[in-house]
Amino acid sequence: MTTDVIEAKNLVNADPVFGQLSFDNHEQIVFCNDKDTGLKAIIGIHNTVLGPALGGTRMWQYKSEWDALNDVLRLSRGMTFKSAITGLNLGGGKAVIIGDAKTQKTPELMKRFGEFVHSLSGKYITAEDVGMETEDMDIVREVTPFVTGISESKGGAGNPSPITAYGVFMGMKAAAKFKYGSDILEDKNVFVQGIGNVGEALVEHLVNEGAKVTIADISQERLEEVKSKYGATIYGGNDIYSEDMDIYAPCALGATVNDETIHKIKADIIAGAANNQLADELKHGKLLQERGIVYAPDFLINAGGIINVYAELENYDRAEIMRKTENIYNTTLEILENAKVNKLTTHNAALNIAKDRIETRRRENAN
Ligand SMILES: NC(=O)c1ccc[n+]([C@@H]2O[C@H](COP(=O)([O-])OP(=O)(O)OC[C@H]3O[C@@H](n4cnc5c(N)ncnc54)[C@H](O)[C@@H]3O)[C@@H](O)[C@H]2O)c1
Repeated sequence: MTTDVIEAKNLVNADPVFGQLSFDNHEQIVFCNDKDTGLKAIIGIHNTVLGPALGGTRMWQYKSEWDALNDVLRLSRGMTFKSAITGLNLGGGKAVIIGDAKTQKTPELMKRFGEFVHSLSGKYITAEDVGMETEDMDIVREVTPFVTGISESKGGAGNPSPITAYGVFMGMKAAAKFKYGSDILEDKNVFVQGIGNVGEALVEHLVNEGAKVTIADISQERLEEVKSKYGATIYGGNDIYSEDMDIYAPCALGATVNDETIHKIKADIIAGAANNQLADELKHGKLLQERGIVYAPDFLINAGGIINVYAELENYDRAEIMRKTENIYNTTLEILENAKVNKLTTHNAALNIAKDRIETRRRENAN
């Protein structure tokens, strides 16, 4: 259900929340509004069977409230399965703030948002996502303890993005091992789409390994910066999906594997950091499987960030964070092999394991 297909006069007949296609029995959805600071946010709590719902806050200029709601529903659901498959005792949640992070984000707005998080008494724990920085979480920390991803100087584990990038790199190597029989990425043609916090750190790993890296971003400034640091090639074309490449790494926003792009993609492997890369998990997962494109499930390989923030709750040290993140390699390889043997899409193979873990805990909790 989207705004495109509903005329204004028919809106009254729509079920705008529980009727959304992306609604998946979410436990709680909280709409937050503050006139003074201009805050408009939605907190989505998908599932808390394994623990409190932890997931970052995204600030984005959504085209409509529907888009924002849809995003928070999809993202919070993804967090449930990400934590479950990574073996963390966390549920899935996420928050979106509607607005331009560059011009509308103020300390007052972040504090007010933190108060809304606090009002949930720990059922939802926040962290940073797109449009948020560690310093923003430090501000949220002034009004609630239910926040992670705060600065190291304030007792946090710091910016999770480099750890996320390392996990994506591990997942990509596992996918290469599965596809090519070797996990060495030297000379592989890798396109990184979105060179923000995670994308840049991924480029660094890839360049160090000798991969041929092409970068794409909507920000020319970022492209120049990353090119000058690592010597990557800036993508000059206008349809990245049609390009010849070995590996496509989506590291910007989600749903880039969709009805329009999927038939053009020539990559052998898709492995990136973006959440919800498949616009339609079932349909596009199946199409990738049929076309022999190895898809490393996003919620599995981009879990480094959540491992990093989980460390703040469990007091892990750096070595344990790195060990757990490195293990993404083994889990990815196991899931790709499991999918092949059981003739499943890789997404479903990963999802089944995550769902089993939640179901087992649900039964234990019930006894
Ligand atoms: N930061 C983390 O630890 C983490 C963890 C898990 C998942 N993710 C996901 O990874 C992705 C990247 O996260 P990030 O923290 O690097 O975000 P970021 O905001 O730092 O970077 C995103 C980059 O993508 C670029 N971009 C936006 N739209 C684009 C487009 N259409 N084409 C090309 N580039 C585009 C932006 O200009 C920016 O440089 C997001 O989807 C995020 O949800 C991040």
